[in-house]
Amino acid sequence: MRILFLTHAFNSLTQRLFVELQDCGHEVSVEFDINDSVSEEAVELFKPELIIAPFLKRAIPESIWSRHICLVVHPGIRGDRGPSALDWAVMTGKRHWGVTVLQANAEMDGGDIWASVEFDMRPGKKASLYRHETAEAAVEGVLLAVSRYQSGTFTPLPLTDSDPGVGGKWNPLMGQADRKIDWDRDETETLLRKINSADGFPGVRDSLFGRELLLYDAMPETLLKGAPGAVLACCEGAICRATVDGAVWIGYLRDKSAAHPFKLPATMVLASEVSGLPVITPDQHCGYRDIWCERDGEVAYLHFPLYNGAMGTRQCERLRQAYIGVCQPDIKVVVLMGGIDFWSNGMDLNRIEAADSPADESWRNINAMNDLALEIIKCDSHLTIAAMQGNAGAGGVFLARACDEVWARKGVILNPHYKDMGNLFGSEYWSYLLPRYAGARNAERIVRARLPMGVPEALSLGLVDQSFGRSFHEFAREVRCRAAQMAGMEVFRDSLAKKRTRRAEDENLKPLLCYRNEELEGMRLNFYGFDPSYHIARYNFVYKIPKSRTPLTIAKHRQRDGSSRSQS
Ligand code: COA
Repeated sequence: MRILFLTHAFNSLTQRLFVELQDCGHEVSVEFDINDSVSEEAVELFKPELIIAPFLKRAIPESIWSRHICLVVHPGIRGDRGPSALDWAVMTGKRHWGVTVLQANAEMDGGDIWASVEFDMRPGKKASLYRHETAEAAVEGVLLAVSRYQSGTFTPLPLTDSDPGVGGKWNPLMGQADRKIDWDRDETETLLRKINSADGFPGVRDSLFGRELLLYDAMPETLLKGAPGAVLACCEGAICRATVDGAVWIGYLRDKSAAHPFKLPATMVLASEVSGLPVITPDQHCGYRDIWCERDGEVAYLHFPLYNGAMGTRQCERLRQAYIGVCQPDIKVVVLMGGIDFWSNGMDLNRIEAADSPADESWRNINAMNDLALEIIKCDSHLTIAAMQGNAGAGGVFLARACDEVWARKGVILNPHYKDMGNLFGSEYWSYLLPRYAGARNAERIVRARLPMGVPEALSLGLVDQSFGRSFHEFAREVRCRAAQMAGMEVFRDSLAKKRTRRAEDENLKPLLCYRNEELEGMRLNFYGFDPSYHIARYNFVYKIPKSRTPLTIAKHRQRDGSSRSQS
């Protein structure tokens, strides 16, 4: 079927549905919902059989829904309506939630229901629930709705509040007043729910040291205590604030009126205010842990759930040290776990944007990424595994491919390309790793296509070696079994010997240093050359400047050769 996505952005859920529907044989084209006439034009050009709205911030125009079936993906259970569906579910501590696929009509989220899928909630950030439970339910719901539509026999169910299966209701937009923290009253659990319900957008407004700030990335602290609201300590960019029954770490802040009005580590935003506070070294009992290691027999697991998968210079250096530290003689296999939400999204573009010299910081950051990748590639004493619980993008994908094996959770999406960031050349030894695993021709195609990739395609191209587990719990369990087996296998020594031989052969053919120098030459031009595209693209990305048109890579109906039209 020809399916048109009308969407606010090509976000993680839209990318996932794009990949899943294409894997089912559908032809999918995308248009950003910029205004009514642009959407109408897209419908006219593509002539879709079905329209899907995976992520919309405003209603579909009547001129479209009155002539075409439009299915809206709503992140709420049956009957739930309104623009803050997941926010309310997290804030009110719902035990179960869901996704409903409904037909657009004149009433927001009130159309006939084509499918609904429920899931168990867990404590966590809204964005994390969106990337996991909601995304899985949305894929199931959309595939079901599409097959029902294709059958031609299914009648969608009208929404009637008296229906006992309808558990939801209309909820208004959640405002800052609904989220307001009362430091003298709110217990840690309440406070976490408030911040989680607003993470990653819009954040919870709060005042600290006389400044209006938005709070993100909260986690509980178990040991530190103090007067409610007091800032007690700092740790790896986060600040610790006391609550009535404990304390919480706040990792990221945003000061809309500051010179850098985007999300940054809390201690960067409050540099002068927190300079005299105690600095904590994190361990399993105390502190803000963004990088840590865990050992189980002959396997070491390196966790690095960095906020939004962004790896700044210091994080890369710390991770490299942690990696070197776990490569001990009594360990055979090192598993790089990343975080639940992202494995890695490459350099930290926000920190770069906030630096005195973004060009210099980009240079430092990419070199730190490269040093980390190099340490992994040249390791000849251990087997290394990248275990992707969450998505990876740009340099993050190639950092994973630096490992001997890449294992990925089934629903993971990879974006193995850099060019969308102002024609960035990219580094992290991608020019060695990508052709080595995918072949030269595929490498060229992947770089040019700039498209998200699902796990089946990544497996077929050698970017992923094994895939299992739908949920990150299932995946992590299975990773442990497989990694332990790997360490225990007789063939471990053989695998290591093969790895050494292969590396030596590759090095003979072309040393890693040559790849690095060539890539860095491209990056030097991006950072210091006459063409400012990278700096402009990074600015637009960090400041979230809306795109003025849909990229042609995904708006197939706007491609000049009309390639998508002729396939139908
Ligand atoms: N540095 C800083 N922040 C980053 C980041 C990076 N490298 N990559 C993603 N983020 C942030 C986004 O700004 C967004 O922030 P928010 O919480 O304030 O909304 C959040 O992570 C989620 O990213 P988003 O773009 O919404 O996720 P997605 O799943 O829709 O898209 C990517 C994933 C990887 C395609 C996209 O995030 C991207 O292009 N990232 C930049 C990759 C890059 O060019 N890295 C540098 C070269 S190595």
